[in-house]
Amino acid sequence: MSSTLESPAPFNHPSKHTSGLSVLRLADAGEASKRVAREIGSLIRHRAAEHRNCVLGLATGSTPIRVYRELVRMHREEGLSFHNVVTFNLDEYFPIKPDAAQSYVRFMNEHLFDHIDIVRANVHIPKGTIELEAVPGYCRDYDELIASTGGIDLQLLGIGRTGHIGFNEPGATKDTRTRLVKLDNLTRLDAVKDFGGMEHVPLLAITMGVDSILQSRRIRLLAFGEHKADIVQRAIEGRMTSTIPASFLQTHRDVQYLLDDAAAECLSQSTYGETV
Ligand code: PGA
Repeated sequence: MSSTLESPAPFNHPSKHTSGLSVLRLADAGEASKRVAREIGSLIRHRAAEHRNCVLGLATGSTPIRVYRELVRMHREEGLSFHNVVTFNLDEYFPIKPDAAQSYVRFMNEHLFDHIDIVRANVHIPKGTIELEAVPGYCRDYDELIASTGGIDLQLLGIGRTGHIGFNEPGATKDTRTRLVKLDNLTRLDAVKDFGGMEHVPLLAITMGVDSILQSRRIRLLAFGEHKADIVQRAIEGRMTSTIPASFLQTHRDVQYLLDDAAAECLSQSTYGETV
């Protein structure tokens, strides 16, 4: 059974009457990913039945790959259509060419978009090729476009070891919007395996802001592995602080963490209730 977070953390934590944060501890990453994919699939179908669009906020990194694999399977084997789906990706390195091996355009094409029937014009990923001077206007337009499509129905998130969501690194405040940011050193270290050397890892990125993320109607955050256990515990049970941008999710009305055993290891049992 899932449980709503009830035990107040030391400071600032929303009370059990206002918190919309729940935590599921699942058998493994596959189970967690299938659960989120099923939720996304049913949201898309619901909206299609009402002749409405479904707006998804999407994430990259190793964590959401199984969700995309499951969505592709649902498309192929269960006829799930993405014709009414509009997507906004959280972030992109800057600068980066869309065909670079590490670009998030390439990642999304390879893991999802090339295998489903999404309308390409409905796909939005921050551009890594715009002129530096054009970035602020571009970022404002990105947030405005999200709002004008009706806002994000479901935002998929991972969490970085720095506590980042998107590329909102430590120091990002709750009111931040889409913008150009500096990557944290730990985040750049985690990206070395993709870029083949620290000197090749970009220093900057464009990311949706914390506030841009908090505007989403539902947020589903996946975290797997023991290397995420400490930051997951601090983001959920610690006080809200810009030192851990993910901690701002504590204020959201419908946010769910889906964790495997290893990532849930440092949480107190009352936070997640029983293992699902
Ligand atoms: P990961 O990254 O999925 O590769 O662990 C998560 C994140 O940085 O949000």
